[in-house]
Order: sequence, then C-alpha cells, then structure tokens
Amino acid sequence: MIELRSDTKTQPSPGMREAIANAVVGDEQRREDPTVNELERRVAEFLGQEESVYVPTATMANEIALRTLSEPGAELIAEENAHLLLSELGGPAVFAGLMTRPIRGQRGRFGPDEVQRMVRRTDHTHTPPTQVVAIENTHNASGGRVWPLEEVQALVATCRELELSVHLDGARLLNAAVASGVPAAEIAGTFDTVTLCLSKGLGCPLGALVAGSHELMRNGRRLKHQFGGAMRQAGIVAAAGIYALDHNVERLADDHSRARRLAEGLHAAGVPVDLEQVETNFVQLDVGPLGIPRNEALDRLRDDAGVLLSTTVHPTVVRAVTHLDVSDADVDEAGEAIPRALGVLVRA
Ligand SMILES: Cc1ncc(COP(=O)(O)O)c(C=O)c1O
Repeated sequence: MIELRSDTKTQPSPGMREAIANAVVGDEQRREDPTVNELERRVAEFLGQEESVYVPTATMANEIALRTLSEPGAELIAEENAHLLLSELGGPAVFAGLMTRPIRGQRGRFGPDEVQRMVRRTDHTHTPPTQVVAIENTHNASGGRVWPLEEVQALVATCRELELSVHLDGARLLNAAVASGVPAAEIAGTFDTVTLCLSKGLGCPLGALVAGSHELMRNGRRLKHQFGGAMRQAGIVAAAGIYALDHNVERLADDHSRARRLAEGLHAAGVPVDLEQVETNFVQLDVGPLGIPRNEALDRLRDDAGVLLSTTVHPTVVRAVTHLDVSDADVDEAGEAIPRALGVLVRA
C-alpha cells in the first residue's frame, strides 16, 4: 500500500531510532530532562520566541495557548475550517471557556478588514469581548496552503492595534517556511503564542511545542501539568524532535516537489486537481465531477490502486499527502494507478 492519507503516518527512521536509543533522560516534570530542555531551547530560538514547552500533541499545544491568552466568556476569532474549531472536540470552549466566531476565509486566510469588521468591544455589561485571533499556517483544510508573510504581518499589526492576542497554529509551520523560503522565526516571532508539531512532516512518533513569552509559558507549564501533560523521562521521544530539527526540515522541499509532481501527473491524466492549491505537501482531488461518492473513491483507490487517500472537510474532495516515507517511485506508481482506479481515461 502507498500511504498518502496523512503526513502523520510516518515510521521513525533508523537514524531517529538511534537518537531515541541514545537519549540522555531525566524527570521532565522537574525540568531535569536534558534532552527535553535542549529541545525546548532550540524550538524557542527557531520560532523567534522566548520560551517553548514540550507537550504530547499539537492539540494540547493549541488548547494551552488559547487558555494562556484569554478569560472564560471571551471570544476567539478563527477561520471556519481551522483545526482548533473543527477538530479539537470543542476544546476552546471546554478548556478556555471561549466563545468561538468563525470567519469565512479564502484559501484558509482572512485579512485585517475582516477582523476589524468582526471584533467586538465590550463595556463589561453584555457583550463578550473579542480577545484572541488564531490563524493556521499552513492551513490544513484548504490543502496545506501558505499564508504569505506580508498578509501575516498585516493581520498581526491590526490585531495589535485592536489589542487582540494572536495565536499561530503552526502545526505545519515548517512546511510554510520551507515553501516560502522565509525563516520560521520571521513568520512565528510576532505572535503571542505558537504551536509547532513534530509528528507531522518532521517524522517524529509524537510531540509538539507551544511557544511564547517567559510570562505566558510560565502559565503554559502550569496548564500542561493540569492537563496531565507533564511527563517523566520524556527525553526518550524529545530526542526524536532534536533529530528531526537537524535532519528533516530542509527535506520538506522533497515532499513539496513530490506533491507537485503527483498533482501535475493526475491533472494531465484528467483527474480533477486544482494545481493552484498545491503549495506544500497536500494534493486535493475533487471526485465530485467524476460522479463517484468519496467513500467509494477511497475504497476503489485502496482496493484497485493500492493507494490510501483520506477525506477532507469538503464533501467531494479527497486528499493525498506526501511525507518522509513516500518515494519518487511511490509517486510515479500512484500517479498511474489513481486515474485508472477512478476510471479516468488517460489523455494522450
Ligand atoms: C493544523 C493542525 N493543528 C493541530 C493539529 C493537531 O495535531 P494532533 O492531532 O497531533 O494533536 C493538526 C492535526 O492534524 C493540524 O492539522
């Protein structure tokens, strides 16, 4: 099977397993784990933030970030298909007591004008005040699309003027940094809080970081413990994170070029793929125009093509995601097998 459901489906590489085996560890809850401490130091620097806190998942990182930035009853603005609105089981409401106001974005993005229009002021009698704006870069539901740096900067500047806090769900921030050639710190450094995930394109078995100022992260560490995320000899997996920062960042460009090659091959074969959407490691295929229900399409791709794809938030769209364990040969094979399994006649 060629595994294209998600970039979370990777196996730790031999080099990463060796780093795991050799990790020096200690009690992470007491901040005595040198490997976790080193990972936190490096990620903070990498993101242009004062401090970062190692947590098991990007979901926990997002939830801790939102809680550090808000008070219960306040309002969070985010794009309507943002992971933290659609895929965290109402976490912002449960853990931070936030009201959520979705913005209808374009390609996962929205601009200063929309924030200006939606922001709610309060006189502390009736209206819940808008307190946090969160963006996602790359944006998962729009097909791994990148926010251009100037747009990010303009949005953050407006939020500052409006005295709103800003969170960056950068689970796949390094895909955005590599695709746009902009250092991660330049994108992430202006946010109050940032999430970075290690178990997506970076190939770790688990782990994420939430970053921000020393002051915010002091509270972040407290919340991590409350959420049950304070660990013991966690350096055993943090070692994978350090290995990934050393070996798996620049190579994200390979995932991006493989996604592009797959997309171009499918498009040339007549599969409905919007090439403009392919900016990083996602390829979105719209099976609607082919008249095939998406679950049937996924079954056919699995059974007839030996290729695993997954659903998206869009009812007729399925996605293929490239990652560390997808080779050029896999892309060639998938590029031939997918059109066949979908009954698309290959164009001459
Ligand atoms: C943009 C984004 N943020 C956060 C997450 C949450 O990651 P996890 O499931 O590892 O907690 C995901 C997972 O796909 C994601 O795509």
